[in-house]
Amino acid sequence: MARVQIPEENCEIREPAEIKAFLKQYGIEFEQWDVDGRIGPDATNEEILAAYEPEIERLKKQHGFVTADVINVNPETPGLDAMLTKFDKEHLHSEDEVRFTVKGSGVFHINPETAPVFAVTVESGDLISVPKGTHHWFNLCTDKTIRCIRLFEDMSGWTPEYMEDPVHEKFSPLCMGPSYLEGEQDDNEIDVARF
Ligand SMILES: [Fe+2]
Repeated sequence: MARVQIPEENCEIREPAEIKAFLKQYGIEFEQWDVDGRIGPDATNEEILAAYEPEIERLKKQHGFVTADVINVNPETPGLDAMLTKFDKEHLHSEDEVRFTVKGSGVFHINPETAPVFAVTVESGDLISVPKGTHHWFNLCTDKTIRCIRLFEDMSGWTPEYMEDPVHEKFSPLCMGPSYLEGEQDDNEIDVARF
């Protein structure tokens, strides 16, 4: 279940409707799609994309995306730490960043610039859409596992643009707790990780 934390205000939001309303203030879309009953635990990338085709097609129309794929990251992923250091520093993209998490979890920190930084923890069933130009960074949780659908407008437009005066070092990426320590291992299948 997703949650939003606002460290400077010592505030946490766990109710999905409240999360959706909070994120909407910053142009961030949040939805929850069923996972159990739609895909099995061993679903292939192709099966995942097929299962969520109606939602993917809707998002393509809404955001102008042309492609979708599935990324699969786990602790055995070669070069995982080096890969993640690209995205754990404050950056922005020239297209919307849309991720639907099928398995595992991760944390998007958002820096709205005109409001306190907040963290959005996403887990299985959570869809988040971060608008282009939004300052953000991404961390995995302690299980270092995430499998999600990504959508793209233009693969070449995905390079992160880093901030000259980033704030990410002031914020802990921690998202610990019992539910994060039970991540089962998956296969080593991987695409290039871009968050
Ligand atoms: Fe990003």
